[in-house]
Amino acid sequence: MATYALLGNPGHNRVYFKQSQKLSVGELQLALPHLSQTCRDIRVEEIGGIIYVVFSSEKPLTEKDFEILSRLSFVYALFEIRVIGRDILLQPIGRWDTPFIDDSLSSILNYTGKTNEIFTRMMINTAVFVSDFAGSDHIRLLDPIAGKGTTVFEGLVAGYDAYGIEIGDKAVNDAYHYLKKYLETDKYKHTTKTERVSGPNKSFTAKRYTFDIAKSKEDMKENRVRHAELIAGNSVYADRFFKKNFFHIIVGDLPYGVQHGNVTNENQTSQTRNPKELLKACLPVWRRVLLPGGAIVLAWNTFVLPRDALVKTLETAGFDVFNDGVFLEFEHRVDQAINRDIVVAKKGNGEK
Ligand SMILES: C[S@@+](CC[C@H](N)C(=O)[O-])C[C@H]1O[C@@H](n2cnc3c(N)ncnc32)[C@H](O)[C@@H]1O
Repeated sequence: MATYALLGNPGHNRVYFKQSQKLSVGELQLALPHLSQTCRDIRVEEIGGIIYVVFSSEKPLTEKDFEILSRLSFVYALFEIRVIGRDILLQPIGRWDTPFIDDSLSSILNYTGKTNEIFTRMMINTAVFVSDFAGSDHIRLLDPIAGKGTTVFEGLVAGYDAYGIEIGDKAVNDAYHYLKKYLETDKYKHTTKTERVSGPNKSFTAKRYTFDIAKSKEDMKENRVRHAELIAGNSVYADRFFKKNFFHIIVGDLPYGVQHGNVTNENQTSQTRNPKELLKACLPVWRRVLLPGGAIVLAWNTFVLPRDALVKTLETAGFDVFNDGVFLEFEHRVDQAINRDIVVAKKGNGEK
């Protein structure tokens, strides 16, 4: 048997304080079935005054397993625990993940309404783990309510093709210029394109910014590129922007009914405080662009919409919702006005 200790990211602890442990254990629990060995006994343990998430595996883990663990949102360092006599020794394993783009891409930015990037990474990992596509090296990710792009940026860090739709033109414009500048400064090879998209008789209009990104000139030549798209438009038209069955995962942070509004109809000027209306209009469309076996993970404020109501809305739209066990362990308080939770669901395999 081997025992491992995962040291949490100090930034994560600052944001969620004690509650981060619960989220870390939840994410690890979803990751363990994807490791090569049967693992058990997940626990939070204090060693030398520092908190670690600890678990045991039947046999030593492999490099591929360490890569999966290194990608977990909360993991800062990995150790194997060795007990020699009365001494507990932590042997460093190092990190095994190789980000496509440095994670400073999503952490540098700070603005009101930003979804914490570590929390966002946790949602992306959760979606991949429950989908039929864990382990695939080509994932297409959509954030249909993308704000200034945290999910898109985290998707690129993981090496996925990342797409975002956001109704606020300025937010998308800011995200586009930020990403372009970042790629230029860090000397990534990239090409960009901007185009207008519109529906029949101008029933809707949108602007699409696309990026092809490679780590080097050679990679660009050999087509080893990752693709990113930012669409300034209404998510209710997601199936006009993208082909049916296109995305492996959908991840988004719904408007909290505090700083952001949600608008499902261009003629609607007042912002609604409740994301229910947005979901009712958009979920069937989001489901259409999701591949069978694909997963959706949404964060929302339980103060404006109870879990039961959200689950029912997802089920009505045809999703299979995970609504028990570890999936009920992600609720946490962000501030006085926001009690955040995530809901995890799948588009059934074999469905159209
Ligand atoms: C909580 S914010 C997302 C923040 C984002 N994760 C980030 O870190 O920047 C929710 C976003 O949903 C957008 N939104 C609301 N209704 C929308 C719609 N119908 N189509 C596209 N975006 C919408 C809002 O404008 C807001 O930016």
